[in-house]
Amino acid sequence: MSKVAVVFWSGTGNTAAMASAVEAGAKDKGAEVSVFGPDEFSPDKVAGFDGIAFGCPAMGSEVLEESSFEPMFAAVEGALSGKKIALFGSYGWGDGQWMRDWEDRCNAAGASLVCDSVIVNSAPGEDSLEECKSLGAALA
Ligand SMILES: Cc1cc2nc3c(=O)[nH]c(=O)nc-3n(C[C@H](O)[C@H](O)[C@H](O)COP(=O)(O)O)c2cc1C
Repeated sequence: MSKVAVVFWSGTGNTAAMASAVEAGAKDKGAEVSVFGPDEFSPDKVAGFDGIAFGCPAMGSEVLEESSFEPMFAAVEGALSGKKIALFGSYGWGDGQWMRDWEDRCNAAGASLVCDSVIVNSAPGEDSLEECKSLGAALA
């Protein structure tokens, strides 16, 4: 059974709803899934998972949430070389720049993005939740 981690931050629940669908998609594929808030995840945990889904909305000015998610991710990214990962998150008024920058960071770290990132404007609808399930399945 593969082990999948879902590590996310959400202020108003949109990315949290996406994370639940990612979790469900990975579980449907038979993975053992662990869900973490940013304060609960750290570089030493990376090796314990076959795949990791990271979720964070666009915050600040097209950046990751700065007080907890960004410090966690900055600490973890050096441990992501060769690791299967996938990214997801909600956004508001932007055009997804935060996600393009985040993907660039992951590629530079040598991580293996297993599928297209899922970005959703505001709250995810049914189609978006299905995309999140597929993202979870791709990691499983
Ligand atoms: C402080 C703050 C900064 C934000 N900055 C951006 C931004 O730079 N670009 C964007 O598209 N949306 C931005 N948003 C909108 C959020 O990404 C959007 O509301 C998203 O759905 C929040 O997801 P959540 O419910 O998981 O917290 C910002 C929201 C807040 C509260």
